Amino acid sequence: MRLLQSITWPLVFGSLVHGQYSMVKEYIGEKFFDDWNFYGKVDDLTNGDVFYVDSKQASQTTLATVNAAGNAVMRVDNTSSLTFGDKRNSVRVSSQERYTVGSLWVADILHLPYGCSVWPAWWSSAPNWPDGDTLEGVNQANMAHMGLHTETGCTLSNSSVQTSTLINSTDCSILANNNEGCIVTNPNTTSYGPAFASSGGGIFVTEFAAKGISIWFFPRSLIPNSLQGNQSSIDTSTLGTPVANWPASGCNVNQFFEPQELVFDITLCGDYAGNQATFLQTCSGICYDDWVLGNPSNFDTAYFEVQYVRVYGIPGQLTVISGAHRSADFAALLTLVITAVSVFILLT
Ligand SMILES: *[C@@H]1O[C@H](CO)[C@@H](O)[C@H](O)[C@H]1NC(C)=O
Ligand SMILES: *[C@@H]1O[C@H](CO)[C@@H](O)[C@H](O)[C@H]1NC(C)=O
Ligand SMILES: *[C@@H]1O[C@H](CO)[C@@H](O)[C@H](O)[C@H]1NC(C)=O
Ligand SMILES: *[C@@H]1O[C@H](CO)[C@@H](O)[C@H](O)[C@H]1NC(C)=O
Ligand SMILES: *[C@@H]1O[C@H](CO)[C@@H](O)[C@H](O)[C@H]1NC(C)=O
Repeated sequence: MRLLQSITWPLVFGSLVHGQYSMVKEYIGEKFFDDWNFYGKVDDLTNGDVFYVDSKQASQTTLATVNAAGNAVMRVDNTSSLTFGDKRNSVRVSSQERYTVGSLWVADILHLPYGCSVWPAWWSSAPNWPDGDTLEGVNQANMAHMGLHTETGCTLSNSSVQTSTLINSTDCSILANNNEGCIVTNPNTTSYGPAFASSGGGIFVTEFAAKGISIWFFPRSLIPNSLQGNQSSIDTSTLGTPVANWPASGCNVNQFFEPQELVFDITLCGDYAGNQATFLQTCSGICYDDWVLGNPSNFDTAYFEVQYVRVYGIPGQLTVISGAHRSADFAALLTLVITAVSVFILLT
């Protein structure tokens, strides 16, 4: 992993003198899915019980579509009956472009996937670890959580300025705490699950800056003017205190993070949702046997509905790294690294 991390990015790209960002990319409407890669194989990343369809299967099976309202929908198969050993079809997409330190990601979401066995995430990653989760939820929980997973040496600093007081863990290292990451829970019980959907969803903002990583969540009724409509620029100083904040004093962003690709995925069971202790907090039975193999209608609520994702960068700085330059060999090597990490987690 160190070897891969040595592809460091010049420090200059992270310098942010003020909180002003300008739009560099939007994913919206009929063209939403144009610039994402579909994973196209089983979940070999988190040991979930899904097969992530490729782009052709995704449109044939309507697991990834743009609906009549013009919103992107990504969902789990809720019509097929499975037999023991089968995986259920689902979606994982990652952006073809990567975004440097000094970028801001805004996702307007109407519905998050939930239900027993369901583990969705809206997050970002370098082609390998480390990564940042803007939101993760699980099973029937009602609060989303956020976190970073990095190499050893990165922590959630006690000088963090954030509204959430629900701090689950502070060591971001993938080698600590069974790779839990440094996790902060969103205190708003409308940040995930049925209450998120019934209150109209909301907007998640991630600031990936040299001074630190910050996340804001605004339920629909509380979206500030500076995020209404199609803003060509956003000043983060107008957003108030973030719900979670990892200052550079605890985690040197330029040192620990490469440019990130954006990811939506929905897995089932796996390392987190399928962990029996976690599962039994909000569900009953056995994750795979009773839910994945169970009635397909268990997955009627297992979908993302996204109005848009917009990416902003610091004017005059390089924000967008084209995905075209990544070699196949490099990608294969990274997959191996990820698999090794997963195995390590299982053994600890
Ligand atoms: C914050 O962390 C630093 C370094 O670990 C420690 O020295 C300090 O006592 C902590 N402050 C508080 C208020 O916990
Ligand atoms: C994090 O802490 C909150 C509040 O104590 C708790 O409700 C939640 O289950 C915890 N999440 C994890 C992933 O441990
Ligand atoms: C949580 O969200 C609800 C609406 O979805 C809102 O009324 C409430 O003020 C929010 N609470 C906080 C602390 O943001
Ligand atoms: C949003 O604004 C940008 C320019 O700031 C423009 O390129 C884009 O087409 C607009 N999107 C929509 C959906 O109107
Ligand atoms: C499957 O779930 C979708 C929502 O993602 C819902 O609209 C549809 O009615 C469900 N299909 C069946 C057969 O229940």
